[in-house]
Amino acid sequence: MTTGKVTTATFRTMKQEKRPVTMLTAYDYPMAKMLDAAGIDALLVGDSLGNVVLGYESTIPVTMEDMVHHVKAVTRGVQRAMVVADMPFLSYHLSKETSVRNAGRFLQEGGAQAVKLEGGAEVCENVRAIVNAGIPVMGHLGLTPQSVNQMGGYKVQGKDEAAAEKLLADANALVEAGVFSIVLECVPIPLAKMVTEAVPVATIGIGAGSYCDGQILVTHDMLGIYGNKPPKFVKQFASLYQGIMDALTAYKEEVQTGSFPTPDYGFNMSPDVLEKIKK
Ligand code: KIV
Repeated sequence: MTTGKVTTATFRTMKQEKRPVTMLTAYDYPMAKMLDAAGIDALLVGDSLGNVVLGYESTIPVTMEDMVHHVKAVTRGVQRAMVVADMPFLSYHLSKETSVRNAGRFLQEGGAQAVKLEGGAEVCENVRAIVNAGIPVMGHLGLTPQSVNQMGGYKVQGKDEAAAEKLLADANALVEAGVFSIVLECVPIPLAKMVTEAVPVATIGIGAGSYCDGQILVTHDMLGIYGNKPPKFVKQFASLYQGIMDALTAYKEEVQTGSFPTPDYGFNMSPDVLEKIKK
């Protein structure tokens, strides 16, 4: 593990040295603190916040205010990891000016070190403007959840010739525009390998196989916090749902039966004071 703050230069070096970059999502202070202590290289405050924490059906309702609030909480918990803030729906489409201003808020108000945004050639003009303002940008290709209505669902992308060629061209366009890294989501393994070999920046895979320069998962999925069946590409490294449910049920029963709290969990006071106030 590299010591010192993880930067875009760390991503470059890790790709060159073929050391996989570890990334996970974080939305709050306690999880950010744990991920950082575990030595995870970069934390994405993903707009998956919408599904995972705010209870929306998709990422589309997530706002800049939602994201800034959670980015601030995450950066307060981190010392070493790079914090990447996800730009929400329509925050980087309208003009170069609004894109730079929105991206800038994540660094200036949120304390993040970089931003991520979805899309290829069509967003490159705004990517270049953000990079020119001194803000590192991570691209995101393949399954881009903000375009779920256009894609007709959460499906593997780049499977036919035209889609695969477009994805490769988009990766090169993002590199031209100055990104320091690209997330590849739900892309066939051989295509993710081709992109990884073709671009000089680190690719971070999610459902894109082992040839990417790094990996990311949604933390709540890989910890099994929700007790539902995760997507095919998610390996559950823990099943916390059952442990949490057992603890909550035990608490409810102990409170209802009076076995919690015992005097051990309370505070005593001087008998003299008690006598005086009884009068
Ligand atoms: O919002 C998010 O969590 C993401 C990851 C799935 C890459 O974009």
